[in-house]
Amino acid sequence: MRIILLTLCVWLCQASTEELKNCQRPSLHNGFLVPRQDAYNHGTKVSYGCNSGLKPVVETWWGELLCGNGEWSHTPHCVSMSDCIAPVVPHATPKPSQVSYPVNSTVTFVCDKGYEFEKKELRQVVCENGEWGPLPTCNRNKNACDAPSHVPNALITQPYRDTFEEGETIEYRCKEGYKFEGKGTSTCEKSKWDHTPKCESDVPSGPGPSHALCGDYPTIEHGDVTEDRDRRVLKVQCAALYKLEGPKEVRCVNRKWSDLPVCKAPCRLDQSKFQYRQREYMQHGEQDWFFCLSSPSYVQVKCDNGRALYRGCGDRDW
Ligand SMILES: *[C@@H]1O[C@H](CO)[C@@H](O)[C@H](O)[C@H]1NC(C)=O
Repeated sequence: MRIILLTLCVWLCQASTEELKNCQRPSLHNGFLVPRQDAYNHGTKVSYGCNSGLKPVVETWWGELLCGNGEWSHTPHCVSMSDCIAPVVPHATPKPSQVSYPVNSTVTFVCDKGYEFEKKELRQVVCENGEWGPLPTCNRNKNACDAPSHVPNALITQPYRDTFEEGETIEYRCKEGYKFEGKGTSTCEKSKWDHTPKCESDVPSGPGPSHALCGDYPTIEHGDVTEDRDRRVLKVQCAALYKLEGPKEVRCVNRKWSDLPVCKAPCRLDQSKFQYRQREYMQHGEQDWFFCLSSPSYVQVKCDNGRALYRGCGDRDW
């Protein structure tokens, strides 16, 4: 038994380190790397400095890079002392979007959809001698809507978001074999969706003969239940980004529905912890790691039914 385990470990442990790639020496003009090598192993930290009169494009006067599976935590650059580094404002995008900005240049912020400026006059900021003027704040508009709730047998023809702005209209599509009863769109009005479309089956509805003994279809939060073609089993599907846990199919056995699955919620990631903007959502049970904004190290993130847990960058949620 021990030999088997050892063999398994040798094989697995090799596999896991082989998968992690080295990094090539990054190119850097007007600066220097310590230590200077042609290639660096995964997990290696490299410091870099800039020639006099210049500074690295990070918050500090020297920079540290981290090699993570073939990629550097950021691209080192040396810029003039009077240049500014990219400003970070939660729920906003700077235009134009650059790594650094020359002195006296102006950046205009745009709040994400459903967010608005606390003070509109701060929307434009100027780079003055290496520092940005006061940065704006984007707050969620009180009339913004949450993601629309799940509609059985339908999907929405645009990517998932958890905030929509007032006046935004979303379009639904029915699954094959289903059609709208009424209109297929919904508009966000005063933080509420004005309409919940309904997709009705083209074929006769109600439980099929084999299900009649169990009564109405079971309800599954954030999921929908459809009868398969020969009307023997119910199939369960979760809303976009929700993760199904449990059996995918439900049957009527002895006048009772068999065990039901659950749809577990996705997590929204807190972008302010990361060095670069990452994907916004992670599915339940998923794990990933990212580079920290505050220090040259990693943060491990996992999603537990709507709650994002962080380990690294100063957090220890588990
Ligand atoms: C930036 O603006 C200041 C004040 O208006 C001016 O004195 C300076 O020459 C400008 N610098 C550059 C590089 O344009």
